[in-house]
Amino acid sequence: MKRVAILISGGGSNMVRLVESMTGDHPARPVLVASNDPAAGGLARAAALSVPTAAVDHKPFGPDRAAFETALLQPLLAAEPDILCLAGFMRILTPAFVERFEGRMLNIHPSLLPAYPGLHTHARAIAAGDAFAGCSVHLVTPKLDDGPILGQARVPVEPGDTADSLAARVLALEHRLYPAVLRRFAVGKTARIDL
Ligand code: GAR
Repeated sequence: MKRVAILISGGGSNMVRLVESMTGDHPARPVLVASNDPAAGGLARAAALSVPTAAVDHKPFGPDRAAFETALLQPLLAAEPDILCLAGFMRILTPAFVERFEGRMLNIHPSLLPAYPGLHTHARAIAAGDAFAGCSVHLVTPKLDDGPILGQARVPVEPGDTADSLAARVLALEHRLYPAVLRRFAVGKTARIDL
């Protein structure tokens, strides 16, 4: 049974879907949900699902990313995760942190990577006149929103779509894609899937 830790910064809807998926014959179980924001709504949702939680506020560390990560590593390493899932985790990680979890850290990003790494993905897709938008789950490498793609899901951009309406449709796809990729990844399958 693989042990999965999940890092969040916000509401944690993807985290909830991952946690809810890890039951029965699933090859993994959630062992920790951690956030850089003590007020993240996802922490209460994780606790309600009986998953241990930790909050390590990044703000007291200012620009010192390495010091924040050292603090974050305390609860994280104590949980002994095999797999680390970033699920709406909005802090850039240092190469040293990424290398520690190389090959076993996943991220979900709300665009069809390699298009639109970074923020405001849906507004950028609409502004570019793209016919399709979507989401990607990828292995995390030191470069932001890069790394081998494990799965993607796409939706048409509709006439009249706003960033918010598109984000809502993509989020529904994220909730299907991330559990599907994790389930396969936990048994060593890294061939890309497309929903
Ligand atoms: C999701 O749309 C996720 O793809 C995005 O943040 C949202 C978190 O929602 N992640 C990023 O933009 C990472 N750069 P959630 O907290 O409800 O899962």
